[in-house]
Amino acid sequence: MQFTISLLSFFCATIGMVSAIPTGETIRTTPNQTTTDPICTPIEQAVPLFRLYAASIIDHFYTASSAEVEHVTTVQGFVLESTTGLVFPTQVPGTVPLHRLYNSTTFDHFYTTTLNPSTIQGYEVFGIDGYIYPDERCGAVPWFRLHNSIVADHIYTTSVVERDNAARANYVFEGIAGYVLPSN
Ligand SMILES: *[C@@H]1O[C@H](CO)[C@@H](O)[C@H](O)[C@H]1NC(C)=O
Ligand SMILES: *[C@@H]1O[C@H](CO)[C@@H](O)[C@H](O)[C@H]1NC(C)=O
Repeated sequence: MQFTISLLSFFCATIGMVSAIPTGETIRTTPNQTTTDPICTPIEQAVPLFRLYAASIIDHFYTASSAEVEHVTTVQGFVLESTTGLVFPTQVPGTVPLHRLYNSTTFDHFYTTTLNPSTIQGYEVFGIDGYIYPDERCGAVPWFRLHNSIVADHIYTTSVVERDNAARANYVFEGIAGYVLPSN
């Protein structure tokens, strides 16, 4: 199944929620099986994508940079929560850039593999946090995206349990943002 965010935005507007969902982006809700036989880059070349959280601004933040983890935990009140998965630091065969976007008014980090991140409304593009697979291949697993429009926060997780728990607690499951390699 595939649906567009603009439809979801319409739905949220209809039921009176404050919506910060970017419009015009298509995202899948079920795994995208590849039919070709891809070249798989060894997992040893992938690096951790860290997950951090700042409770004061209700913002989940992801980065592959240890220096940035050090910085935001020291001076910005973020707490290191986990490694959400592994990403490639450079573009290897079959991968696509994982773009970081941010809204500094609502304190919401947003991650997408869309081709033109600058067209996403409501966010500024901040850069690339690594390279991930656009479909299920090479042992990569779905990186689920959830959105809480009340507090303007996006969560990304490979955990089906966390996805389903969050979906019962004000977060809407929006789809699969991409496929990361499992960190354990
Ligand atoms: C951030 O979100 C707010 C509320 O949705 C919106 O008014 C604002 O334009 C957004 N900022 C950017 C840079 O798009
Ligand atoms: C899913 O598969 C199709 C067909 O192979 C491909 O064009 C597309 O880029 C893949 N990824 C996503 C996220 O749709």
